[in-house]
Amino acid sequence: MKIITGTREEVSKKAAQRYVELLAKKPEAVLGLATGSTPLELYAELARLCAAGEVSFARAKSYNLDEYLGLDGSHDQSYRYFMDNNLFKHIDIRPENTHVPSGFVKDDAEAAQYDAEIAAAGGVDLQLLGIGNNGHIGFNEPLTPYDSLTHIVKLTESTREANKRFFKSIDEVPTHAVTMGIHTVMQARSIILMAFGRGKAEIIKKTVQGRPEISVPASLLQLHTDVTLYLDEDAASLL
Ligand code: F6R
Repeated sequence: MKIITGTREEVSKKAAQRYVELLAKKPEAVLGLATGSTPLELYAELARLCAAGEVSFARAKSYNLDEYLGLDGSHDQSYRYFMDNNLFKHIDIRPENTHVPSGFVKDDAEAAQYDAEIAAAGGVDLQLLGIGNNGHIGFNEPLTPYDSLTHIVKLTESTREANKRFFKSIDEVPTHAVTMGIHTVMQARSIILMAFGRGKAEIIKKTVQGRPEISVPASLLQLHTDVTLYLDEDAASLL
């Protein structure tokens, strides 16, 4: 794993340059994208670079990691809504080339169609990841099988509790989500994982220095040949 550290702003800008380089070389690249607070500065920088004419997503395709089950894009807590508002409407990507897993799949077989769609598009060139405090990537919580494809997950009560601040009440927080699996993520040609803050330091240490094992999903990234971590000084403080 390659590790890049700096301030949050510096590493977000460096990560943005990966997109500039990739899209210059391969304008039709397939991008794997993430939600959450971590990529917000990266997305703002991509919007700035796009407006400045330094990068174009006009021929790119995107596939997001995950979505809540039962929410459609009009719900302000859906990940589709998040992506439209934090990235897609600020860059020149064609709306029909952006993909977020459907929150309305009925079972894992239908969810796994997402893997087939990604493969048909040529596979992900650059996958962006954040990381949960327990090492989750996407909604792949500890002990998710290594060979998992896109699938439905039951959210833990602690995840629902953590997210309830965004909803009117706990009852409105979805009970399930659909996420790319570990296998789906590992298929990407290159992977960027970003993490900021002291709260992520422990899990970053396990991710980088621990044994790769499914109890820490992000540690499995050690088994991939092209992973770069973009960390602020706090997240890197235990390395
Ligand atoms: C987002 C996702 C999650 C987040 C992770 C970190 O699509 O799949 O795994 O990347 O929970 O979230 P933040 O960035 O809010 O700390």
